[in-house]
Amino acid sequence: MNRNDFPMFMQNIIYFDNGATTFKPKILSEKISEYYNTYSANAHRGDYDISLKVDQAYEHTRELVKEFIHAKKTNEIVFTSGATDSLNKIIFGYFKNNLQEGDEVILTKSEHASNVLPWFELADMIGIQIKYIDLDDNLKVNVSNLKKIISPKTKVMSIAHITNVAGDIRPLKELIQVAHQNHILVLVDGAQSVAHMPVDVQDLDIDFLAFSAHKMYGPTGVGVLYGKEELLKNIQPIIYGGGMNVTFNSDGIRIYNEIPHMLEAGTPNIADVIGFGSVLEYLNQIGMKKIHEYETELRKYAISKLKQIPSLIIYNEYSESSIIAFNYQDIFAQDLAIYLNKYNICVRAGNHCAKILKDELGIKNTCRISFAFYNTKEEIDYLVKILSNPNIKNEII
Ligand code: ALA
Repeated sequence: MNRNDFPMFMQNIIYFDNGATTFKPKILSEKISEYYNTYSANAHRGDYDISLKVDQAYEHTRELVKEFIHAKKTNEIVFTSGATDSLNKIIFGYFKNNLQEGDEVILTKSEHASNVLPWFELADMIGIQIKYIDLDDNLKVNVSNLKKIISPKTKVMSIAHITNVAGDIRPLKELIQVAHQNHILVLVDGAQSVAHMPVDVQDLDIDFLAFSAHKMYGPTGVGVLYGKEELLKNIQPIIYGGGMNVTFNSDGIRIYNEIPHMLEAGTPNIADVIGFGSVLEYLNQIGMKKIHEYETELRKYAISKLKQIPSLIIYNEYSESSIIAFNYQDIFAQDLAIYLNKYNICVRAGNHCAKILKDELGIKNTCRISFAFYNTKEEIDYLVKILSNPNIKNEII
């Protein structure tokens, strides 16, 4: 779908690493250039025409994000530098001040580093306890395993919507219902989901959501922190400076801005936020439901073909997203990725920042393909052909 919109496809390349980052439609660089070349002023600071134009364009993206994830209000949308930044701001800006020693936080062993390491740090700082929901045989999370680990001390569940290696789509609505019945707040890492399926934060009743623009065809260096208004009003900034204060004096008396500006200190990444808006409009034109259906079809097709290669081990056959993790018998994952690169096929190999998943998988490294809507069945056929090469081991040595 829409391949001609992506200049990267002028190169002879098969790109299956969309979980790491996606290619960008031409409109993104055009929109960014337009800002730099025709109204390149700061945001929220000037009283002249081009500055007001910047404010409008920047805030228009906030409105588009609000609509994209179906938030209730625009002040629930904070721009950050990426999902990692958003998660850190939520964990150290909100939970550090609202959890106490002995409180329990629920994670899973398939979380990305960005949803594990800040919690480890917080545990060292204030003595919270970290617990993991057991994954089932297909590396999935279910409600009954969640219920088993909830205790009166459980205060937070922090999980990915789609995990970046196992690729399972979590049953968020059911999990969040159970969490809320037990007065547990829910932080969702949406880095792998928001670009691949419709996400409705009100319908799912998500308390906090973090995601990155660059994994959704947008620019690098932009992320989103969503939080319900009543929670965001109680978050402490972890970055202080210009743009986030109303006033301060030499005695240290200071008044900070309201959300979301209180959480966007310093000159923001104006050009990229504005560019991100054009990508959201582009995605709206295609439709997230259509994207999800197409990628689901690609996944089914790929699994059916890859399963026919006898030496291929697929670790997440029964997951639902466009992420497939695999190895080729007796070939080191990174060697396989380098072999595929010889044929202009880009895949990711390694532990993919999900370093405790090895406890569940029993192996440390995998190759991972992750589709986007511009991938095709023909590309999958080519991958399967290259992986079916009877001389594959000789070519790698
Ligand atoms: N988190 C990104 C990935 O899974 C970089 O590849």
